[in-house]
Amino acid sequence: MKKDLLEVLVEISEKMNSMFELHNLLPAIINIAKEYLGVKRISLMLIEDEMLKMYAHAGFEVEHASVRIPLGDGIAGKVAKTGVEVTMNKTDISRDALGYQTSSFMSVPLKKADKILGVLNLTDKEDDFFTEDDVKIARYIASQCALGVDRFNMYSDMRKSENLRVIGMLNSSIAHDIKNLLNIVSSYLELMKMEDVNPEMQDYIDAIFSEVKRIHGLTLDILDFSRQSVSIHIESFKISDLFNEIKKHAGIMTRDTDIHVEVTVLDDLEMKVDRAKIFRVIFNLVSNAIDAIQEKGTVILTAEKDGESCVIRVRDTGKGICRENIGKLFQPFFTSGKSKGTGLGLAIVKMIVEAHCGNIEVDSEEGVFTEFTVRIPYNYESIKELHK
Ligand SMILES: Nc1ncnc2c1ncn2[C@@H]1O[C@H](COP(=O)(O)OP(=O)(O)OP(=O)(O)O)[C@@H](O)[C@H]1O
Ligand SMILES: [Mg+2]
Repeated sequence: MKKDLLEVLVEISEKMNSMFELHNLLPAIINIAKEYLGVKRISLMLIEDEMLKMYAHAGFEVEHASVRIPLGDGIAGKVAKTGVEVTMNKTDISRDALGYQTSSFMSVPLKKADKILGVLNLTDKEDDFFTEDDVKIARYIASQCALGVDRFNMYSDMRKSENLRVIGMLNSSIAHDIKNLLNIVSSYLELMKMEDVNPEMQDYIDAIFSEVKRIHGLTLDILDFSRQSVSIHIESFKISDLFNEIKKHAGIMTRDTDIHVEVTVLDDLEMKVDRAKIFRVIFNLVSNAIDAIQEKGTVILTAEKDGESCVIRVRDTGKGICRENIGKLFQPFFTSGKSKGTGLGLAIVKMIVEAHCGNIEVDSEEGVFTEFTVRIPYNYESIKELHK
């Protein structure tokens, strides 16, 4: 016996209250709708990457489970694009988008406020005619589905941000411990330096000391990153000195390879910025550039003055970056094509550059080149005064 409307509404709200996962909720709702409205086929499609993708369906062949329709294509695609519902009764449409013989068709958008999330399609009503009440019920069902989708998206976002928060806490507690342990190592190294050791050993101690200082700085970066605030300790130095230091390190990294790192200082600016942090910015960019060169190539590092800014460019003849990835580069944890990348390098770079009131841009052509351009004030102190 056919259920009455009240029974159907109660059943739908019960599903809404007991099911959170979309792969359970949406099929359950459309099955109720199919039975009550007496249609042969029903499908629920959601928008993802500018496409309508089949999410739940009843009455279709199994192979239609993975149907995708570009927004704007066919009736469902148009409804998804415009948000305007379509009802066709006993029309001359003989086949629907999937090639089925069709006599009546209704496509209703799933909306959350002004945002269109997908469409609900109903095909072939038993008596070939959708009544006004059918249309209203279909709208109600679409709105319940939209509510379920929106609730699920919100829940997933919350779960993601909670995971990130926990990872952040873990990172900062580890970074904090490493920082303290490195302080102890540094103190012992200082004591060793005071001992009467031979000059060669002294060089080794100096090298270990400078690397320990660098790791110490890195852990501070991670702490800054977890707190989402960067502390800046200004030092005066010549940009050429910083570049030479980078070149020395890059030389060690590219030893036994056919990768060359060239440094050009067009204006040897006197910088007043956080030296350790700007070192890490350039070093991160140079490391990425070296990683991007498969066998043979060049990394060119340049610095020049532009008004109050120092413009630093890191250009490489590596594999380049595809269009799709360009927009994701500075997102935390975005990494691609590396087995050991954590995807934090560029996120930290951006954070440090912006903390210096600067900006960073990227230009690339796949298979040809990549160039990062960093623009920071060479005298951060005077800029900081202006921003107060
Ligand atoms: N010069 C470049 N050429 C080509 N791809 C690059 C270049 N610089 C960055 N990328 C791409 O951007 C991604 C993100 O870089 P990022 O430095 O943030 O992370 P990562 O290098 O993967 O890991 P890590 O946290 O160890 O730095 C890289 O995985 C790489 O795919
Ligand atoms: Mg990197």
